Amino acid sequence: MGLDCYKYGTKNNHRRWAWNQIIRMSHKKPQELIVAYLAGPDDIDREIAIQKGFKDCNLIAIDADVMKVNKIKQLKRPAICIDIVDFIRNWTGNPPIDIIIADLCSGLTRKVAKDFMTSCFDSTGLASPTVIYINLMRGRDQVGGLYSKQFTEEVGINNLFKHRGFQFFTHLTWHYYQWMLQQYHGSNITYFIEDIVIDAMVKNMVPIYNSYKSKNKKTIMDSAIFKYYPLGPTNVIKDRDIGCKLAALKAWRTMRINNIKGFAPCAK
Ligand SMILES: C[S@@+](CC[C@H](N)C(=O)[O-])C[C@H]1O[C@@H](n2cnc3c(N)ncnc32)[C@H](O)[C@@H]1O
Repeated sequence: MGLDCYKYGTKNNHRRWAWNQIIRMSHKKPQELIVAYLAGPDDIDREIAIQKGFKDCNLIAIDADVMKVNKIKQLKRPAICIDIVDFIRNWTGNPPIDIIIADLCSGLTRKVAKDFMTSCFDSTGLASPTVIYINLMRGRDQVGGLYSKQFTEEVGINNLFKHRGFQFFTHLTWHYYQWMLQQYHGSNITYFIEDIVIDAMVKNMVPIYNSYKSKNKKTIMDSAIFKYYPLGPTNVIKDRDIGCKLAALKAWRTMRINNIKGFAPCAK
């Protein structure tokens, strides 16, 4: 186990809570769901998911750290070294991703907020709905704190809401609203967009929030889970190199599933 160890009481309880909520909010059975998740050093989420009935081949581990990815690949499990934002933006339909687990454990910076959200808006590879879990660090992150302050001022919401999961969800719906205004600029629909977005937020996306204290018992981690409904076809140009990388992962997964050329079938 490395320095960044995520096996401790409050985290273990939170992880189990999150998986239970994700399953409850999903529209399919665990064995049918495709998950893209940030793996971390010990790939603990996979153990839990498999216990809960998810298929090994449907759990796509993502990490920016190549060592962590290689460890998972050695066990013949789907894993890819990529930024989660690039993954979401460039993944195309087949199979659509049903669940995204972005256990970032970092602050809510402008990059996290904007890049993550726009990658969802731009994606053509997400199921409708996709259940999104995001976990962020509160406080102790000066950059995140600054962004959060700027945003709350810009949108005019009360900065007393310190929960980073709540803030993320508010930011997402704000950008969703802005995106819709841009798309429908000049049409009569713009009069109804506010109502549409509020309706979507409250009735359909049904966000839930939770928090826990990290290992040092000082830092608070805030999470949000909600259903995301893709906004429809986009004409965003995909990155060719990333596209090739994702195609290779898909081909490898298909071979494993179909036991082609001696590839052992998935464990479950
Ligand atoms: C908090 S850990 C995941 C822990 C895991 N969910 C668990 O409960 O054990 C986050 C992992 O994501 C990776 N990571 C952070 N931001 C990322 C990004 N934008 N794209 C890809 N990987 C990222 C980090 O290298 C780290 O290994």
